[in-house]
Parts: sequence; C-alpha cells; structure tokens
Amino acid sequence: MMKVREMDIEYCMHYADNLEAARRPAWLYDETKACGVNYNSAILAGLYDRHHRSFRNYRREAENIIARLDVSPSATVIDMGCGTGAFALYAAGHCRMVHAVDVSAAMLRRAQRKARRRGLKNVEFHRGGFLTYEHKAKPADAISTVAALHHLPDFWKLVALRRLALMLRPNGRLFLLDVVFSFEAGEYEQSIERFVRKTRDQMGPTGQSESETHVRDEYSTCDWIMEGLLERAGFRIQTADHPDEFLASYLCTKEGP
Ligand SMILES: C[S@@+](CC[C@H](N)C(=O)[O-])C[C@H]1O[C@@H](n2cnc3c(N)ncnc32)[C@H](O)[C@@H]1O
Repeated sequence: MMKVREMDIEYCMHYADNLEAARRPAWLYDETKACGVNYNSAILAGLYDRHHRSFRNYRREAENIIARLDVSPSATVIDMGCGTGAFALYAAGHCRMVHAVDVSAAMLRRAQRKARRRGLKNVEFHRGGFLTYEHKAKPADAISTVAALHHLPDFWKLVALRRLALMLRPNGRLFLLDVVFSFEAGEYEQSIERFVRKTRDQMGPTGQSESETHVRDEYSTCDWIMEGLLERAGFRIQTADHPDEFLASYLCTKEGP
C-alpha cells in the first residue's frame, strides 16, 4: 500500500491553501503572512511552550477565562489564535466542544499533538484566522482570544471583531486579552523601554527581541481605540482590566441578535 508521507500532506495543504486564497478578493488583508514574530516557524512553535511557561501559568489563566466567560458543560467555545493550545486544551475539560483556530500550521500541529497525548476528543482544530475562518457549526456560546488580535492592523481588527460577533449566539460572551497600550502618549519612549525591560526580565534575551519586534512590526493599539472597535463591532464591554500599561483584557457581551 502507498505510504503517505508528512511532506505529501504538507504539499496538499499548501495546494488547498492556494486554491482557497485565489477565491478571496485581492484586497483582503493576507493574515497568513507573518508580521513580526514568525509563528509559522516550526522551530519557534517547538520552543513556544518552554518560553511561555517560564512566565505564564496556562492552567490558572485558562481557569480565570473559563470563569469569566461563565462556560457551562454544554457550551461550545471558540479559541481564536489558539497557538499551541494554552487555553483550548484546558477549556476542553469544561465544555462540550472547543473550536481551536489558528493561521499557523506549525502552532496548530503542536496543539494537536498535545491534545492527542491528553486523549482529548472534543477539540476541533481549524487552520484559519480572524478574517478567513468560516464557523460552520451552530453559533458559539463564548469566544476567547489571547495575544492574537494585535497581528492585524486596526481596520482589519474591526472586521475581525465583527466576524467574531457573527460567530456568537445572542448574549454570547467574548474574552479578549492582548498587548494594548494605555501609557501617556507623551511618554511613549520611557514606557516602551519599560515594556522591553520587563519582557527581558521574564524571558531573557528572547523576550527582549520579541518585545522589540512586537512594538516595531506588529499592530498593538491604544486602549481607547480597542474599546471603540469592540463597541462598533457590536459588543458591550462588561469589564476592562489594565493590569499594567501594556496589557488589557476585556469581557464583552454580544449586543443584538
Ligand atoms: C502570541 S501567540 C498566542 C497563542 C495563544 N493564544 C496563547 O495564549 O499562547 C499568537 C498566535 O496568534 C496566531 N495568529 C496570528 N495572526 C492570526 C490571525 N489573523 N488569525 C488567527 N490567529 C492568528 C499566531 O499564529 C499565534 O499562534
């Protein structure tokens, strides 16, 4: 019998991606191209958990999000920009179904491997993103997105948030956590230096270079812009937390049908 090699699967996926892309309008932002830190890299995906676990507690983060989203055992949850599954794989233990979505095949592969090792049967993985994922199942009860939306420029963030609202049932909840700037504009240089120092202290030289790349090449925005985008996309902001001048989390409810 013919043996299907991993390379053949990669080739078919690449071919299918190109076909999909050809069907989209030429003006659509290409969310598959890496901006800043390259999460399409298999090497980076392989090191991601080790780096991130040095300053994050995935379980505690996920439990906090699950509580804030009020996830019930019968709920369906979408994790947009799921990466290696920091939230999706814990959420699977608390709800009926998780749709774990990411544009990076390398990050998804890591997440899938971890899900297999844990014997999880209720996580569906989807290669796609804020602008291209088509949610074909019934509207979700809740969506979480952590440290992913800043990969899109502001106009495309608005498009992305509107698409998330369409994937949610009426009164469904959105939890959004990201690098969002709330420092005084006049003091941006000192504030950004503080951000770089903080990440260097947390993650060493890799952290320093990732935060420098983040500020230079990615699209983190101001808190007042993020709040305007959420409201214009059809969300009511229930709580807005700013643990420091670089991070923000928002718990929102979808308004209207
Ligand atoms: C910093 S990682 C965060 C991963 C995960 N949410 C976590 O908490 O560890 C950012 C993730 O966003 C993904 N990403 C980037 N642009 C995206 C897009 N347009 N749609 C969905 N995911 C995207 C990247 O591939 C990467 O896996």
